[in-house]
Amino acid sequence: MSGRFEGKQVIIIGASGGLGGAFARAFAKEGAALILAARSPSSLTALAQEIGGKLAPADLTDSRSLEMLHQQAGRVDVVVNATGFSPRKSLAAHTDEEISRTLHTNLMGAILITRTFAPSMSQSGGGVIVHLGGYADGRLALPFFSVDAASRAGIMTFSEAINREYRGTGVRVLYFSPSPAETETERPYHPVWRKLGQPVVSAEKVAAALLDSVSHKRQIHIMGGALPRVFSRLNAIFPRLAEMVMINRYKRILESYFGDGAVDTVGDKG
Ligand SMILES: NC(=O)c1ccc[n+]([C@@H]2O[C@H](COP(=O)([O-])OP(=O)(O)OC[C@H]3O[C@@H](n4cnc5c(N)ncnc54)[C@H](OP(=O)(O)O)[C@@H]3O)[C@@H](O)[C@H]2O)c1
Repeated sequence: MSGRFEGKQVIIIGASGGLGGAFARAFAKEGAALILAARSPSSLTALAQEIGGKLAPADLTDSRSLEMLHQQAGRVDVVVNATGFSPRKSLAAHTDEEISRTLHTNLMGAILITRTFAPSMSQSGGGVIVHLGGYADGRLALPFFSVDAASRAGIMTFSEAINREYRGTGVRVLYFSPSPAETETERPYHPVWRKLGQPVVSAEKVAAALLDSVSHKRQIHIMGGALPRVFSRLNAIFPRLAEMVMINRYKRILESYFGDGAVDTVGDKG
């Protein structure tokens, strides 16, 4: 059986992560030739033995490291940026290191990856670059996610601008917001998502949705059904109404877990 990505070269940056590993397995099943990248590629040996693929070191906050990955890969059809960092706490509780790491990993990383790969994809007739968002489209501005939300909204707007800049070249940036998923990093927050009424899905389900979006060359995909999409749009047009209908209720729940006087507990507050 031939897969949708037969003969395509796909790089997964952050293949060591919960979602990155699921993306790699899903692309492998569909016939892609994989380059599995992480800051420590030795962490990917078992995955490469299971599904095949070459290993490469990559730090997405370092443009020289990304350029070396690009040189090693040669022609690339799809780059999936499966990295990220997502603290959930009051702004006052964020350390300088957390703010810097969130903005550098999420926003600057997405910009550097795109700058590294989009020009050569354009010269070779096209390709897809995927960046991951957070809950909803990144512009819903949930309290206690302030720095993370700033980085995701930045990625969303950056992706829109790049798609306009590269229109007609065959290059697409996909902004993909996964549903809360069953990964190690997200597991401590599952009770919070359930209390907010958001289902937690398997990493395989997220991967299936991502591959569908890549193969259809979509530019934006918000998982989680109609609710996060509708509220993102409502928030953009009538923010006070969005607060009355939903965000104020979310705020009470989020404050109980992530506020400075939190009464509920999660295993790790990021
Ligand atoms: N899981 C969910 O429910 C969910 C839902 C919505 C959005 N997301 C977002 O999706 C992304 C992945 O989530 P996940 O649950 O798979 O997280 P994860 O398991 O913690 O994976 C994150 C990956 O990012 C890599 N990474 C971090 N900094 C890096 C850097 N400077 N250079 C290269 N790689 C770097 C890590 O690799 P090394 O540390 O090994 O280098 C790790 O493999 C995150 O942005 C997360 O916020 C997740």
